[in-house]
Amino acid sequence: MKWPELAQHWSIRPDTIYLNHGSFGPSPVEVLQAKRNWQDKLDSQPMDFFVRQSEAAWLAARHALAEFIHTHEDNLIFVENATAGMNIIARSVALSENDVVALTDHEYGAVQRIWTAKCQTSRAQMKTLQLPTRIESADQIVKAILQQWDERIRIFIVSHITSATAIHLPVADILSAIRAAFPQTLTIVDGPHAPLHVDVNLDQLGCDFYTASCHKWLCAPLGSGFLFVHPHHQHQIVPTQLSWGRLLPALPERWFEQFMWSGTRDSSAYYSVATAIEFFQQWKIDQVRQYMFALADETTQRLLHLLQTDTIAPPNSAWYGAMSHVRLPVADAANLQARLWNGYGIEVPIVHWGERWFVRVSNHVYNDSDQVTRLINALRTELDLTRS
Ligand SMILES: Cc1ncc(COP(=O)(O)O)c(C=O)c1O
Repeated sequence: MKWPELAQHWSIRPDTIYLNHGSFGPSPVEVLQAKRNWQDKLDSQPMDFFVRQSEAAWLAARHALAEFIHTHEDNLIFVENATAGMNIIARSVALSENDVVALTDHEYGAVQRIWTAKCQTSRAQMKTLQLPTRIESADQIVKAILQQWDERIRIFIVSHITSATAIHLPVADILSAIRAAFPQTLTIVDGPHAPLHVDVNLDQLGCDFYTASCHKWLCAPLGSGFLFVHPHHQHQIVPTQLSWGRLLPALPERWFEQFMWSGTRDSSAYYSVATAIEFFQQWKIDQVRQYMFALADETTQRLLHLLQTDTIAPPNSAWYGAMSHVRLPVADAANLQARLWNGYGIEVPIVHWGERWFVRVSNHVYNDSDQVTRLINALRTELDLTRS
């Protein structure tokens, strides 16, 4: 399958088969142009732009984002990426010696580092909750989390879509079970893979914090992300980088105004988030997802056929969305990613997780079946699977 009318909006280097949108996603040319237009406005008259236009641009882009992810705009701030959002939460919440911070064993490495550091400085403890080795259902996941629960857990962090394992976790079910049984726990959703990939409805989800990068599946320019803070917690949120908050003579009063001016910087990536949303709305987001998910299902089936292995969760787009994640039939695949790039121009992550190796393929709208065929052929040669 192929969607050439849409794929032509990307200018990916012609020597590259880019199957790694999940790590770093390129933007369509229109979105990059929007960013350049904002930069031109700024560079041609910085004083006029910063003093008279920048706050309105920030607020307008935030309004568009809030509508897209279904929450009130005043619950949101722009941050450079999900990492920045997670650091703001870690900096802002108070922990004490008796508290426990719990994460699943599928959480992103840098997120684990942020909370390990926080626990070290506050003498709190970290606890890793193991998800089932073979995932079968949402109920099974919720049950596994509750079985390992510890009454001292004060903060629980879970990915909306996991990074190394590419699984769409049933976050709504997990959060509602935790809310019902342990209402004192603060819940944080780490969501960089979610916007555009799936519907994000923050008011329905009911988490305390949600942070994501808009530069992944939504294809906004690199350096654009957001942090959602539930109104109950906004009073305690402080910037990791203290500045004026707003440009003088204005002073920050509401929580989000602490984050509108964090020092002189180019925020054109934030302002262009609205253009990225409009870009996909033009192409109908349901159709965009239908294409990506169908291609991912096709990729998964072809990989399973070639590799004769398995997946961690059921091999369909209900669990993997636009990503395909299949185990490799080898004990060591440490060099495979470099060989696929050097020998075939294929950019695809080969992931080591849980002492097994996997190939993780991102299937965005600019990808197509021919590219998957090139990957399959390259894997067949590199893994010496000539009979498959
Ligand atoms: C689950 C998850 N959390 C956090 C991050 C960090 O995102 P960023 O580098 O945009 O801050 C990633 C990046 O891949 C991720 O997959």
